[in-house]
Amino acid sequence: MNEIITSLHSNMGYVVLAALALAILNAFWGVFSKRPFGARDLRIALFALIFSHIQLLIGLITYFSSNYFSAWENGMGSVMGNRNIRLYLVEHPTTNILAIVLITMGWSLHKKAADSRKKFLRIAVFYTVGTLLLLSRIPWDAWPRS
Ligand code: HEM
Repeated sequence: MNEIITSLHSNMGYVVLAALALAILNAFWGVFSKRPFGARDLRIALFALIFSHIQLLIGLITYFSSNYFSAWENGMGSVMGNRNIRLYLVEHPTTNILAIVLITMGWSLHKKAADSRKKFLRIAVFYTVGTLLLLSRIPWDAWPRS
């Protein structure tokens, strides 16, 4: 069961990062081309948001079913004292939750913006910062799996 959840979380990682990359490129293209924000732009940004939220839920389940989770039994010191365990149990989850909060803020703020340029800009900025945070705490030693 644990292996199925982790592998789902691992594979969804590609989908989320690809959807975010597409949404960011599309938003910057919108900013620089000065074209109107249309239904396709909304859909691209919305799909990236939805995939991020699905990954957040799968991440929460992964957290409690992961083999790393039992490290908490030995106390805070043993979790924080091991670089790898600290990454999986503290840094990766907290940074990624913050990243998804920022992506969600970008989505909400784009809806409040009156003109197309502002809509594109808010998605571009918030999705980019969120994605950089995600990339900063991916366990690159273990992913992509060989
Ligand atoms: C968009 C957000 C996220 C992305 C892109 C992401 C991506 C990844 C990736 C690529 C791995 C490595 C999987 C592997 O070893 O093959 C991983 C592992 C893990 N993630 Fe996430 N993650 C996200 C959010 C979260 C959240 C919010 C949590 C917890 C609340 C979480 C908990 C974990 C845990 C515990 C592992 C280690 C699983 C194990 O090997 O036992 N992730 N994540």
